[in-house]
Amino acid sequence: MSEKKGGLARSRLGQDVDPALARAGVSVHFDQRLALVDIAGSQAHARMLGAVGLVSLEESRLMVEGLASLAEAVRRGDFPWDPDLEDVHMNLEKALTERIGPAGAKLHTARSRNDQVALDERLYLREARERLAGELWRLRAALVNKALEVGETPAPGYTHLQRAQPILLAHHLLAYYQVLKRDQGRLADLRGRLGEMPLGSGALAGTGLPIRADLVAEELGFPELAANSLDAVASRDLLLEFLAGGAILMVNLSRLAEDMVLWCSTEFGVAELPDTLTTSSSMMPQKKNPDGAELIRGKAGRAIGNLVALLSVVKGLPMSYNRDLQEDKEPFFDTVDTLDLALPLARRLVEGLSFHRERLRAMADDPYMAATDLADHLAQRGVPFREAHRQVGALVAYCLERQIPLIEAPPAVLAQLCPLAEPASLAGLTLPNLLAARDKTPGGVAPRMVAAQARKAQGELAAERERGL
Ligand code: ARG
Repeated sequence: MSEKKGGLARSRLGQDVDPALARAGVSVHFDQRLALVDIAGSQAHARMLGAVGLVSLEESRLMVEGLASLAEAVRRGDFPWDPDLEDVHMNLEKALTERIGPAGAKLHTARSRNDQVALDERLYLREARERLAGELWRLRAALVNKALEVGETPAPGYTHLQRAQPILLAHHLLAYYQVLKRDQGRLADLRGRLGEMPLGSGALAGTGLPIRADLVAEELGFPELAANSLDAVASRDLLLEFLAGGAILMVNLSRLAEDMVLWCSTEFGVAELPDTLTTSSSMMPQKKNPDGAELIRGKAGRAIGNLVALLSVVKGLPMSYNRDLQEDKEPFFDTVDTLDLALPLARRLVEGLSFHRERLRAMADDPYMAATDLADHLAQRGVPFREAHRQVGALVAYCLERQIPLIEAPPAVLAQLCPLAEPASLAGLTLPNLLAARDKTPGGVAPRMVAAQARKAQGELAAERERGL
């Protein structure tokens, strides 16, 4: 940290700060990601300064154009970021002053880095939210398409990872559609809370200079001005909301990923991923590893950690700005990056899955998965369900011991163990009947209910795209 750089690494009394402090304070290696939104915010601010006469129109023009040329350098990747200048804001301001002379030194009029960084983060979050919402929408659309593609393919349904009752494969896929629809809702809610523009809040108390924050807000597309300057510089709950939504979304993707890993295992053997979406082992050439799904599952940990990290940073802070808040950026960017990787990857995996539909059908036709339906049959004929459950349990035990399917239990045995069962009841317990019967609630697995669910999902997707995500 050297004086020649004119950085901020000077103490209150003009001495160089201790190198240990200076090193800890540097953020430009990560906050340079805010450069383009910082520049957009500064340009709006510079125009406003010119409009209200705090700088001349010529100075305002010089600032706006100088900032545009800095943006070019940032886009080209050859902006000379200098850690001695601490953060992205000081780097850009210094470069502007070098480029346009004394007018550059007027840019920070009526502004603090505290309200500046709050604005930058909102602008950055606004862009990231919109891009990620689009990716999430595409993933949901892919799930619905896959559900339509597999049609009425039956599959075993599980609880405790034990075969429980037959379902439709499409129903399983659409369950993830429903999960992700709520994630989409969380991302959409955030949009409604991103409307307040914080610039003008100054370091914490606003400014006495005659600014027009409404001009800045209008140029940057914010419908409102921050209602409280302390809140505007001190709060990070919008980032927390994004990180929380991101963590939940990643956990949901992780469960989908885990199902894919299971489906593609040799043991389940019900689905396959294309070679382009798997890797092989460097040692065992027969292997086809679902690395993409595993990486999504693994990366969920980062999103959880990022949320916990920022919650911990914010928890004990008094009003208003505290330097701790500089620690908000790395978790924030990391969750953005994680979702930017995971969402398109999850979509490619869903699109690439091909199911072994005959094997799934055979697994769904498990000779014992009709047990609940037989108990339901008894319950309908007046047997208390607990008792029906016990009677069918005895019949299942009998059949298992003799290795015969439930529906082939001898009529005499049925009559003895389940006296109120209709003799013909067993014959009706076929896979198509078991599935078709589950049409009593909209969320049931009867093929006609699942088809309706898929149609409704298509309509939702179209409506969401229509009104904006
Ligand atoms: N880099 C800082 C941050 O992200 C900018 C604000 C610095 N403000 C201050 N009072 N030191 O929080």
